[in-house]
Amino acid sequence: MKSLIAEKFHHVYGRSPEIVAYAPGRIEFIGNHTDYNGGTVLGAALDRGVWVAIAGRADGRRQFASDQRGAPVEVRAEDMAKRAGATSWVNYPLGVLAAMPGFGAKAPAGFDFLAMSNLPAGAGLSSSAAIELASALAFLEMAGERPPREIVVKIGKHAENNFVGVPCGILDQGVSGFGQKNRLVWIDCRGPVFETVPLPADAHFWIFNTHTKHALVDGLYAERHRECMAAAQALGVGLLVETDAAAVERDQARLTPEAFKRAKHIVDEIARVAESRSALARGDLAAVGRLLTASHRSSQFLFENSTAELDFLVDVLTATEHVFGARLTGGGFGGAVMAMTNGAFGEAQVQAVVAAYRARFGAAPDVLHTQTGDGATLL
Ligand code: GLA
Repeated sequence: MKSLIAEKFHHVYGRSPEIVAYAPGRIEFIGNHTDYNGGTVLGAALDRGVWVAIAGRADGRRQFASDQRGAPVEVRAEDMAKRAGATSWVNYPLGVLAAMPGFGAKAPAGFDFLAMSNLPAGAGLSSSAAIELASALAFLEMAGERPPREIVVKIGKHAENNFVGVPCGILDQGVSGFGQKNRLVWIDCRGPVFETVPLPADAHFWIFNTHTKHALVDGLYAERHRECMAAAQALGVGLLVETDAAAVERDQARLTPEAFKRAKHIVDEIARVAESRSALARGDLAAVGRLLTASHRSSQFLFENSTAELDFLVDVLTATEHVFGARLTGGGFGGAVMAMTNGAFGEAQVQAVVAAYRARFGAAPDVLHTQTGDGATLL
């Protein structure tokens, strides 16, 4: 891939890149909306992601191109405003540049930039965190800085929160930064503390991308964020991680019916992350699968961030042979379902699921068999 992006870079800019970096997409394994509530989460870095190639320019101009769009876009240093429309993907590297000084790194002045991806867009696999982390590694290298991985992760999250404007937690950037092949990343988002745990060999991941997206997805994500903060306040804690299911039940009268459901989802989900970690350590994939499906049901009925398409896929998949469990992955309100299966799950089962989905919704989901991969790195 390094030679492929170098070739494409040459095609666009007529010279070779000086720095190439890569960062993977991720699966949210379990821990839905727990991150910004200070909870824990388990994720898997994928074996696909985003590559970024850059070369410095003495004239101070900053040019951005992507292998999926047309000619490079120039962004002047005095016009670092957020972009809209077709060039809005540039906000991710721009957000990284804007974040760097706050982390003690000087943003490079002039460069040619090219991004290349093999992640399906809009599938909830965090191509945004992948481009943020690959950009951060490349720009930091150009600035002569090699900070600890945690700082690279924080720069990516800062870009997403403050420049792109999504109040996300640290899941996506943390998993992309700390991922390892055949392991899951466990994050205690309060620290944050990053650890990895082995993934039993018989676990396979299948992504069913519905290509549906609620028109208000960003607004709904922010609304859930607000609802969780309001529920925490009503319960007398700073973040929902500081309470638990028993206290939420006990103090139900302090909450609106909606706030109760949101809070219950979060505290139960944090408990499921801990149970999943124990079950993984025992190699009990059947138990892990039940927790994954329970997480989905909680999204469906309590957090209300699922959709008819995602629920249907989970219903069909959990009734299919060789499936341990299935759940929506990522923010929700559309996107994809992730199934964890054993190695015998294959074409026959995929065809049956796709046929059932097509009969119900008139279109087929995209299906991807993915593996875990390593985290962000310079190449
Ligand atoms: C999105 C966000 C993450 C996380 C998930 C839900 O992927 O970017 O920070 O909140 O949704 O768990």
